[in-house]
Amino acid sequence: MNLSSNNIEHLLTTSDPVAIDDLFAEACRARDEVYGRKVFMRGLIEVTSHCRNNCLYCGLRRDMRCARYRLSKEQILDCCRTGYELGFRTFVMQGGEDAWMTDERVCDIVRSVKQEFPDCAITLSLGERGRESFARLKEAGADRYLLRHETADAAHYALLHPAEMRFEHRMQCLQDLRDLGFQVGCGFMVGSPGQSIETLKKDLAFIDEFRPEMVGIGPFIPADGTPFGHEPAGSVELTLRLLAIIRVMHPHVLLPATSALGTMHPQGRERAIGAGANVVMPNLSPRDTRALYSIYNNKLATGSEAAESAADIRARMAAIGMEVPTERGDYRKTVV
Ligand code: 5AD
Ligand code: SF4
Repeated sequence: MNLSSNNIEHLLTTSDPVAIDDLFAEACRARDEVYGRKVFMRGLIEVTSHCRNNCLYCGLRRDMRCARYRLSKEQILDCCRTGYELGFRTFVMQGGEDAWMTDERVCDIVRSVKQEFPDCAITLSLGERGRESFARLKEAGADRYLLRHETADAAHYALLHPAEMRFEHRMQCLQDLRDLGFQVGCGFMVGSPGQSIETLKKDLAFIDEFRPEMVGIGPFIPADGTPFGHEPAGSVELTLRLLAIIRVMHPHVLLPATSALGTMHPQGRERAIGAGANVVMPNLSPRDTRALYSIYNNKLATGSEAAESAADIRARMAAIGMEVPTERGDYRKTVV
């Protein structure tokens, strides 16, 4: 499929349903060729809602006066135990940029999880850190790191973040993670304020060049009390098209059907799979802390138990003819 700049623009803007169906079909073909009809599950554990940053879009930004929490190592291990029984072989520990999460504490958690679950992959998503810090986390046993780049356009980045957050530093972190041997995930929101076809083309060009192992994208959803709390949400349709373009561009990428999509549309995650996604990330966080991790409004499945969300995801995937294997689901460099 032709992914020239002109054609990307056409695919992002056309109202021709045939062109879009072709795009989705091509994306699914590309995915199936590398990974087969499999959707990999990751257990998401929201380890801290404290954050030193003040991203303008996020409901956990520093200026939000909200109840905050951190999970103890024992609570995190309990989430993993529950997840392991449910067939999870990847645990994603995600949180705000919390100074309490020192290298020592994170390494200790990573080592403990690896010791108890040596056959599982650990993904960290704890924001920007220094290269030395990333190196210690890797050394402790972390396999993967998610750090969305948010936008590949420096001016757009500056519109979404306060001045103390530097686009260059974000990009440096991604490069450091790559150099240190992590499987790296970048990504962005679709429909964030100030986004345009031009900035999206830069995001795609960045992905094409950096070739991350994972790409997380989901629609922007306004969060009450933030500077962008009254901005319109991003489009589900555009998100699906972007997922498909990313899959066609980079057939090996691990591409989650994000909860933001599931929040925006009852069949959002199924539709993402239909556009070439191959990862789902049900929430394993303790029930009572889930509601507190409110990045955006009406975040999905705040009330359900881990077992319930895993069963729900399995049923949804089976219904669209996808298998959910009990495996780590690592990045594949070669075709099956
Ligand atoms: N809507 C959708 N996604 C959001 N994120 C943060 N705030 C929002 C929002 N309001 C995304 C960012 C961040 C990830 C953890 O969640 O892309 O990297
Ligand atoms: Fe903090 Fe992440 Fe939210 Fe930014 S997006 S305020 S870094 S939790």
